[in-house]
Amino acid sequence: MTTTPTDLLITGATLADGSRSDLYLSGGLIADPASAPAGVERFDADGLLALPGLVDLHTHLREPGREDAETVDSGTAAAARGGFTCVHAMANTNPVTDTAEAAEYVAGLGQREGHCEVRVVGAITKGLAGEELAELGLMANSGARVRVFSDDGRCVGDSQLMRRALSYVRSFDGVVAQHSQDTQLAGPGACCHESEWSGRLGLPGWPSQAESIIVARDVQLAELTDSRVHVCHVSTAESVDIVRWAKKRGIKVTAEATPHHLLLDTPLVAGYDTTFKVNPPLRTSEHLEAVREALADGTIDIVGTDHAPHARQDKDHPFDVALPGMIGLEQALSVVMEVMVNTGRMDWPTVVERMSSAPARIGQVAGQGRPLAVGEPANLVLVDPSARAVVDRDASRSRSRNNPYHGRELPDPVVMTIWKGAATYRR
Ligand code: DOR
Ligand code: ZN
Repeated sequence: MTTTPTDLLITGATLADGSRSDLYLSGGLIADPASAPAGVERFDADGLLALPGLVDLHTHLREPGREDAETVDSGTAAAARGGFTCVHAMANTNPVTDTAEAAEYVAGLGQREGHCEVRVVGAITKGLAGEELAELGLMANSGARVRVFSDDGRCVGDSQLMRRALSYVRSFDGVVAQHSQDTQLAGPGACCHESEWSGRLGLPGWPSQAESIIVARDVQLAELTDSRVHVCHVSTAESVDIVRWAKKRGIKVTAEATPHHLLLDTPLVAGYDTTFKVNPPLRTSEHLEAVREALADGTIDIVGTDHAPHARQDKDHPFDVALPGMIGLEQALSVVMEVMVNTGRMDWPTVVERMSSAPARIGQVAGQGRPLAVGEPANLVLVDPSARAVVDRDASRSRSRNNPYHGRELPDPVVMTIWKGAATYRR
């Protein structure tokens, strides 16, 4: 969307480091508060935190192809509601984003419809088929300037192809983001963490090793090619151990945790509510603990939402048949606060690093994830750290209702989101 930046003086905001500051937004940038004219519009931010706008590296916007589930308009409106000023639109649309033209089409949609910046993720392989590399170089050099490549939803199983993708993206400092799932070990129908739960519920099991086996292979391929690999939605303790080992070795690996893998555990699927069907599946508490610890200590670099809206007709099925995925943009910060901040595991500067600075760096997004300093783009979110509310899926800005937090009381922090100096969400 073409946003019109407003001149606004935000007074008395607390920054992530605890210092207090006035922020004068002018012409889409942060300007010196001393230069604010006397009659300028003011916003009293006493008691509120001002953080850099959040950046999501893993968003499914569903347009083109499944506009009944989400559009760029609705998905980025949900993003703004959640405090995001930038999202990365995953490639598993219809058609797949696997050519320069397709990438430019999605980038254009983002420019026209987006309530935040929309960066385009290109497919690694043509049609996500895992057989032939997509137009990686052409997408990188296109107007969409793609830097993140992923077949997310599918795993690149062929090691030789993965090696070639990693080698290729190195030339433009791109990154290959892998959906780590050994599809032989976790068969196509696998939908429940393999454990006593899968046995008791009679659901096909998805063992944690089906994830970590691919993570182990990919970090070694990243070492072999001296290239960057990103592990999407880390959900197991074994994957965490491997990423920790790889980082110690100097391998260029980054990793992400989703809000749902931080908060929600396997027993939630016991009611066969398909809202809780997601890929990788919800894991048991030991795995959740390992993921939380890794996010706190930096082994896991970022929070990525894997916001995966689905139309009702794709969720209203038996558990093993329904499509996997849950929405997450609007409650991402709520969950991180509940699990990480309010428990003392993570401070606010680390939240900024995991949800804004690091994802912007990994995706090579200029102008996002920047400190709130004079001369920087006015991308920020105002947060009330004490507000709480019961999540209502029908209050969502997303077109989909597969919200796993529905009915749960959580922090409700976002008061205002500002992108390029214009308010994209205001409570
Ligand atoms: O649960 C998921 N849903 N996991 C994925 O990797 C893809 C996503 C989707 O596109 O629906
Ligand atoms: Zn995935």
